[in-house]
Amino acid sequence: MIILIGGEKGGTGKTTIATNLAAKRAMENRDVLLIDTDAQGSANYWAQSRDDSEAKPHRVACIQKFGKGLQAEVQDLAKRYQDIIIDAGGRDSVELRAGLVVSNKAYIPIQPGCD
Ligand SMILES: Nc1ncnc2c1ncn2[C@@H]1O[C@H](COP(=O)(O)OP(=O)(O)OP(=O)(O)O)[C@@H](O)[C@H]1O
Ligand SMILES: [Mg+2]
Repeated sequence: MIILIGGEKGGTGKTTIATNLAAKRAMENRDVLLIDTDAQGSANYWAQSRDDSEAKPHRVACIQKFGKGLQAEVQDLAKRYQDIIIDAGGRDSVELRAGLVVSNKAYIPIQPGCD
């Protein structure tokens, strides 16, 4: 399963959803790869911090990947992982578009307004 968490709006919780989804699936003993395609690198930072924690939870492998090569890279990596979770930055980008093409499911979170 290749899952994209993306959207053009910033700060809607994409990385929070992507990292928690990756952790949940890893805790179900699935081989999970998290791909951080946002130059901010917050998903990658999360994975590194998790590796450094003493709890030694089910590991989530994470790589950073940018640019047009994302689609071919994901298609190749999908042969080796049960789940690939792609975290895309909050803007239109080649990574978001490549992720939309290659994913089985795409989730685009929105932030509800109050007015
Ligand atoms: N369900 C939620 N309820 C309340 N706060 C949330 C929720 N999900 C995420 N947040 C908070 O909202 C902020 C933005 O979350 P996050 O970094 O996941 O968004 P993002 O869409 O990945 O942002 P960016 O577009 O910058 O990549 C963070 O401070 C996070 O802790
Ligand atoms: Mg993010």
